[in-house]
Amino acid sequence: MVVAIDGPAGAGKSTVARRLAQRIGAAYLNTGAMYRAVAWLAIRDGVDPNDVEAMATLAEAHEIELVPVEGGERVTVDRIDVTEATRAGDVTALVSTVAAHGAVRRVIVARQQAIIRRGDWVADGRDIGTAVAPNAEVKIFLTADPEVRAKRRFDELVAGGADVALGDILQQIATRDGLDMSRSESPLVVADGAHIVDTTDRPIDEVVDTIAELVGSARGGAG
Ligand code: CDP
Repeated sequence: MVVAIDGPAGAGKSTVARRLAQRIGAAYLNTGAMYRAVAWLAIRDGVDPNDVEAMATLAEAHEIELVPVEGGERVTVDRIDVTEATRAGDVTALVSTVAAHGAVRRVIVARQQAIIRRGDWVADGRDIGTAVAPNAEVKIFLTADPEVRAKRRFDELVAGGADVALGDILQQIATRDGLDMSRSESPLVVADGAHIVDTTDRPIDEVVDTIAELVGSARGGAG
């Protein structure tokens, strides 16, 4: 079975998806990490991020893996651990430009579909319910007010030792959401059949409970 969790930046997707996966005995697929890896490659190799063909070739040429480890997962490119680098500000600023290219998406989506072909998965991203797994048994659109999303991302970055301003984070999130929602290839939209879950005033545990119940019903009441 596949549980698709889509939504804008900072809605809590990865936290909810990780906990839900653990709860229901599924694996977790962080699809955004793969686009971040491609953006990281563009910076490392000095490839023009607006050159669609060069970016697709770059995505194709490198092995991008998500390696589960105790308490999380690591992102590797050609077996090199790039987890921290792909969460850095320069990659975050570039990733939505890279992810807007249809030719890049085709490479990455095909790999993601191969990964989730077997077994039970919770996958989070922007196009899971619409493109990666349109037949997902449960589809969630996770959202929250922009100020709350910015504050969550700000807290995460500060906890990681970053020196950032809340206003800048709010601005970056708005820019990235704008790009993700307005692109022509698989824009961020509410997928057909998706449950909209607003996390503005709801603790993560409660949100995980709600989705776990939906999974239970989809499994025929057994979960
Ligand atoms: O920062 P956050 O965790 O919200 O984002 P992410 O999941 O790491 O995704 C980073 C970026 O990759 C998004 O802003 C999208 O531009 C792109 N992305 C996408 O286009 N499709 C996906 N399925 C996942 C991410």
